[in-house]
Amino acid sequence: MKIAIYPGSFDPITYGHLDVIERAASIFDRIIVAVARNISKNPLFTVEERLYQIKESIKELKKEYEEKTEVDDFFGLLVDYAVRKNACAIIRGLRAVSDFEYEFQMALMNRRLREEIVTVFLMPNEKHTYLDSSIVREIVQLGGDVSNFVSPLVAEQLCRKFGK
Ligand code: PNS
Repeated sequence: MKIAIYPGSFDPITYGHLDVIERAASIFDRIIVAVARNISKNPLFTVEERLYQIKESIKELKKEYEEKTEVDDFFGLLVDYAVRKNACAIIRGLRAVSDFEYEFQMALMNRRLREEIVTVFLMPNEKHTYLDSSIVREIVQLGGDVSNFVSPLVAEQLCRKFGK
């Protein structure tokens, strides 16, 4: 069984992330969407809130892809978590050239740490190229509509966080 980890901060999960999960689920037998607990960023949502949002959002996927997808969180090194989960791959989405430098550095470092774990880059649909969790947060904060970018539950929780 080929298992892939799709790690991230998912603060919050967007339709761009869901697009990547769908593509990954069409290749691998099992996808573990894993929220990182130890990133230095100051997240808007708690890990528990994000896990719930992801679980609800993946219900919008095709049934066969939803069934292949598990949601989890992890602490510590991503490659160690991948080994514990018997995963052979790490999935990362690549939207634009601007993503490349950081992703390339991370992929090569992860390979140095654990040669056997392969990083696979997937490109979401072009309509999601500009989509980014931080931009979504900002749009809501400034009173904009994000219903085309995140699931209804996430949109509602964003509005509540920002008192909109
Ligand atoms: O969604 P993000 O914030 O771009 O995800 C970054 C993430 C969580 C994938 C990255 O920070 C990570 O892998 N963190 C776990 C700690 C780790 O393994 N760091 C070394 C990476 S080379």
